Amino acid sequence: MKTIVVFGSFVGNTETLAGYVARGLELAGHAVTLKDVVYADIDELQDYELILLASPTYEPKMVQDDMLPFYEKLAGVRLDGKKAAAFGPGDTAWPDFCEAVHFLEKRLRDCGAEIIAEALMVDGVVEEHETRAVEWGRSIGA
Ligand SMILES: Cc1cc2nc3c(=O)[nH]c(=O)nc-3n(C[C@H](O)[C@H](O)[C@H](O)COP(=O)(O)O)c2cc1C
Repeated sequence: MKTIVVFGSFVGNTETLAGYVARGLELAGHAVTLKDVVYADIDELQDYELILLASPTYEPKMVQDDMLPFYEKLAGVRLDGKKAAAFGPGDTAWPDFCEAVHFLEKRLRDCGAEIIAEALMVDGVVEEHETRAVEWGRSIGA
């Protein structure tokens, strides 16, 4: 399945996590385009069958700054017939754990995409969740 993973990342954790997920998808035999949202075009989503979006959560705006314009443009896009899922890192030390991931998932669903996996949300140090994240990507691709 032609797959794109688009992430926004401020400190780099979401980028690391997205790399793990992309590796899992590749292990399942998929061609994956991994893109920082800064370089992504909303129209290019139409070229893919499977769309994964990732954002960390930052109070008080929730969706990460770079991802925010993309997220807003997405409201005017139809993704009917496409498969999708959302993921991201967060920290349970904050009151709204991984809220941005819920926002992304809802937006994908509102666009008509089929959510094919329970969102991946990791708490704290992303490197400690490498195996789980690779496996999540692999299971989506399976
Ligand atoms: C100012 C600030 C606000 C944050 N707010 C939240 C939050 O509301 N919910 C949450 O789950 N994590 C929150 N976090 C944790 C980040 O989402 C987490 O560190 C994440 O891994 C950062 O990803 P990035 O390196 O890709 O930017 C916050 C972190 C900072 C520094």
